[in-house]
Amino acid sequence: MSDEYIIQIKNLTRVFGDGVEIKALDGVDLDIKRGEFLSIIGPSGSGKSTLLNQIGILDTPTSGTILLNGVDVTKMSDKKRSRTRNKELGFIFQYHHLLPDFNALENVMMPLLISGIKSSQARKVASKLLDEVGWATG
Ligand SMILES: Nc1ncnc2c1ncn2[C@@H]1O[C@H](COP(=O)(O)OP(=O)(O)O)[C@@H](O)[C@H]1O
Ligand SMILES: [Mg+2]
Repeated sequence: MSDEYIIQIKNLTRVFGDGVEIKALDGVDLDIKRGEFLSIIGPSGSGKSTLLNQIGILDTPTSGTILLNGVDVTKMSDKKRSRTRNKELGFIFQYHHLLPDFNALENVMMPLLISGIKSSQARKVASKLLDEVGWATG
């Protein structure tokens, strides 16, 4: 495996359902080099979200391998999978809703707090990010 690749997917399959089986992914192979951009297009129901959920370690494949930075995430313990998901991946969710009980600053602070950053530091970073997009935090 080469350092050149950030993502390498081999023969990835994801089957849903117990009675009637839905093969959402069927033998997907994919290599993405560092610095490369890849767009995945296809009709509704063709498996785009299912594939991204595998790369984001939000779901487990039925078979196949997913190497992120040369390490197979399908062979990791749950703890290591969580750590990789939280610390090493930048995943932009397709659907995202702000938490209505929190203000904008608290919403931006939330993932920082979950990742273990101290509250005072999280507040500083979140304020700076909101300032950058022109949101006055007061
Ligand atoms: N959690 C699930 N349970 C059962 N079937 C699913 C689930 N998620 C996706 N599917 C099915 O897998 C196929 C691919 O879906 P999806 O990845 O959402 O496609 P796309 O994002 O390209 O529209 C569809 O047939 C969909 O109904
Ligand atoms: Mg989708």
